[in-house]
Amino acid sequence: MPESFPPDYVAGSVVPFFLAGASAGETPTLPMIDLALSKEMAIDVQWLGVIYDGWQPNPAQEGISVFLKGYETRGANNERKKIYMSAVTPDLIDAKYRGKITGFFERYLADGNVGRPLLKTYFEGYDDFYWDLHVGAAKNEIPVEARQFSEGFRTVLGYYYPTLEIHRDALMLCRKTRPALREWLDERLQRLIDGKQGNADQTMVYYWLKNGQLGEVFPRVDILFECFHNFLAFSQWGNMVYHVGAALEPTRGDPKVKEWFEKTMKNGPDQADGTPFTRLDRFVMELFRTINPNAGSFSTVTRLRDVRGSEFPAVLTEHLPASMAPRHWENPSVFDPDRYKAAQITTDHDEAHCREIGLARCPFSKDSFPVKDGRSVALTNSAFGAIHAEVDGQPHPLVDTAGYAPFGFGYRRCAGEYITIEFVKEYLRAIWSKKVSFQKLDTQKPESVPVNPHTVLSDDIAFRKAR
Ligand code: HEM
Repeated sequence: MPESFPPDYVAGSVVPFFLAGASAGETPTLPMIDLALSKEMAIDVQWLGVIYDGWQPNPAQEGISVFLKGYETRGANNERKKIYMSAVTPDLIDAKYRGKITGFFERYLADGNVGRPLLKTYFEGYDDFYWDLHVGAAKNEIPVEARQFSEGFRTVLGYYYPTLEIHRDALMLCRKTRPALREWLDERLQRLIDGKQGNADQTMVYYWLKNGQLGEVFPRVDILFECFHNFLAFSQWGNMVYHVGAALEPTRGDPKVKEWFEKTMKNGPDQADGTPFTRLDRFVMELFRTINPNAGSFSTVTRLRDVRGSEFPAVLTEHLPASMAPRHWENPSVFDPDRYKAAQITTDHDEAHCREIGLARCPFSKDSFPVKDGRSVALTNSAFGAIHAEVDGQPHPLVDTAGYAPFGFGYRRCAGEYITIEFVKEYLRAIWSKKVSFQKLDTQKPESVPVNPHTVLSDDIAFRKAR
């Protein structure tokens, strides 16, 4: 170990990393992951020091994310997840968050950013957008430590190996800045609790407070924790922003994607053709299936016999093999948004369906969670556990087949799927309406930019605008 590596870092991050292991899991046939593969503290061990003071989980004092909770510890029928999702339902995205998303793309695709490496530009506005969405903080209210933590977290994720100096520096920066970040967040939470935050109902925390009621399923310390742990989830947006640009790039992009983009935007992007998804929804879903920004669903497992094996065994249920499996699609390798016209959806998967496929009962019981914040919204789930929202009695189903894997599976599937799809849709609408095109830069040495777990991208694409 280099002498420059502090002993607490070596003991808390590097050594556990070498004692950990991960194996590839099976490619699922049903859209679920069995409880034997658990979400309980399913995190790469070298990152624990980013989120916990003592380099070890300490949920009671320091909080925990639903991401790191097993099904059994989430309240009845995944209640914690349903409360989390109450803050990102389609009605809220439409009425409360859309302006924040479009405002972000206005600034990102501004004339002054033409020709600049796009990830650099993207991350210049990212923290402001992130904190506005979570706690309603304005640009000038965000402390420098919150920005440093964000940058450090992203760097630790991208530069995955704790043996790298850049990983060490970033992780130690997170540890240095986290106390100030927590203190600031605690004040922001109190402001929301006291009703002193303007436009509070345009923040995610507002709905966590209202629907969790600061009870034991979603206590205050966990709300605070989710606020900064979400840097992990949101980090994947940067990856999509880059890869959408790359796919649309005229010379090196993907001709099929470009053709479908033109066709979709010119022919009623918001028409649904009698299906639950509009043409633009389907195009974006196909981008997710093929770009696959998230490699796999990570689980902890129970060891049966493993004499010289790892101390922290884990299994990764990989997404791309599922999305590309011939058992799930007639034409898995073709870019074809129309595949979702006939795909199975969460509302198809009820008790009758389970019996049809030979099961005696549903693997996950369906128990709706009506929100308590005054809206007519409930969160419910398919027989395989995937949660969707019902707004004014109208379901907003999601594709529920193991062949659509980018957001994971079942009870542990992504809680931010609706807002993520809308985020990319707004990106595409802005690209179209502003006549934006992308261009690979000739730069000899593009900057390396960490975006999400295991991913560092060369910032070698810029955008142009037609005059
Ligand atoms: C490109 C963007 C995103 C992708 C590809 C993505 C993908 C995923 C995947 C694959 C999982 C399942 C992980 C597992 O089972 O091990 C997951 C879980 C989760 N995601 Fe996302 N995500 C994205 C953005 C977001 C956003 C923006 C949010 C918050 C608004 C979010 C919140 C969550 C949460 C809370 C979980 C844990 C769910 C649970 O364990 O029940 N994600 N995400």
